[in-house]
Amino acid sequence: MSNEQVLILGGGLMGLAIAHQLARRGRCVTVLSRRRNEAAGFVAAGMLAPHAEGLRGELLQLGQLSLERIPRWVAQIEADSGLPCGLRATGIVVPFLDAKERDCYPTAAFGEALNRERLEQLLPGIAPAWQAGLLFDQDGQIDNRRQLMRSLESACVDRGVNFQEGVEVLDVLQRDGRLHGVQTRDSEGQLATLECTTAVLCSGAWSAQLLPELPVFPVKGQMVSLQTPRGALKHVIFGPGTYLVPREDGLVVVGATSEPEAGFKEGLTPQGQQHLNQGIAALLPEAVNWPPMERWWGFRPCTPDEGPLLGEGPIKGLWLACGHHRNGVLLAAITTELLADAITGHATTCEAKELLNAFRWDRFRDDMIQNKAPEKSSRGQAGLQPIKRKSDQPSTRQP
Ligand code: GLY
Repeated sequence: MSNEQVLILGGGLMGLAIAHQLARRGRCVTVLSRRRNEAAGFVAAGMLAPHAEGLRGELLQLGQLSLERIPRWVAQIEADSGLPCGLRATGIVVPFLDAKERDCYPTAAFGEALNRERLEQLLPGIAPAWQAGLLFDQDGQIDNRRQLMRSLESACVDRGVNFQEGVEVLDVLQRDGRLHGVQTRDSEGQLATLECTTAVLCSGAWSAQLLPELPVFPVKGQMVSLQTPRGALKHVIFGPGTYLVPREDGLVVVGATSEPEAGFKEGLTPQGQQHLNQGIAALLPEAVNWPPMERWWGFRPCTPDEGPLLGEGPIKGLWLACGHHRNGVLLAAITTELLADAITGHATTCEAKELLNAFRWDRFRDDMIQNKAPEKSSRGQAGLQPIKRKSDQPSTRQP
């Protein structure tokens, strides 16, 4: 076993999950974290939704493999921390305007087809416009914001992970294409050089600030949570542009705007909040009367094809686990396994090698990088436009 220190650049969900796994395998790990609360792990709604999000191709495969691994991954975190992660098998319902639209959904074959009557049974009060649906019983949710992140931090501490908070990584240092250290600045402005030959870049939407050749850019999302009578909503509703995620204690997390044009501009906007309100009214009219509890925003780390960057990067020894866009919470379990296996030299399966190859950082064509816009758009990406009725529905509504 090597005692050489592994540096984790970023203390968000991906950084903590990889740090925890490497520490479990006996590695000496230090997490460098700039600002704990900007991590997407504290912002996301925690949907575990490869089917409900209508993923396709290798991204669907990656999501399904991760979904399978989540119960075991969560059990490890809970065992090490002694704290619950808030995993819930609520299933996710995707409503559609009609059966034709439902049957065209890319993951329709994985769900139970619902007619209006069954949709109403599962989601009492759903707006009359929704005449069909898909129930993905295998999809679920985890309370990332209030439980998973705290449990994972505690599990890392339990396994001996070192933390340096308030530390910004300014540069990665290389010699002959190999990593030999990073330059940092702490909260008091002190510069330091930390030597290392193995590091993992988990800097989310900020990853390209460290390695400009990575095609990762921010897609801002605004969110709100509502207080409901406990049990008022039993399943996650994943509508076009808006979704409602009911937690165990009656809180419902509502997401999210999708604002690539906002760049890193912080803060809530009236348009963003209006978008969420319109989305709530279009899905579940009674929910507009549920009192709002909290509003927040964050930045998804997006890539031109909406898939993550995994495995070895342009500098030998600097591994990548970034660009997870809408699916960071879902993909944390498989990302952790793939990266920990590769870094520790664990014999990797053909499937793992194929996945690492499929999500290489240099898979993009030049024109995709220049446009910086996702090639295909998922159902959740309705920007700030209100949800449209069938009569004015554009053909781009599909994922
Ligand atoms: N996965 C949901 C979102 O990114 O808004």
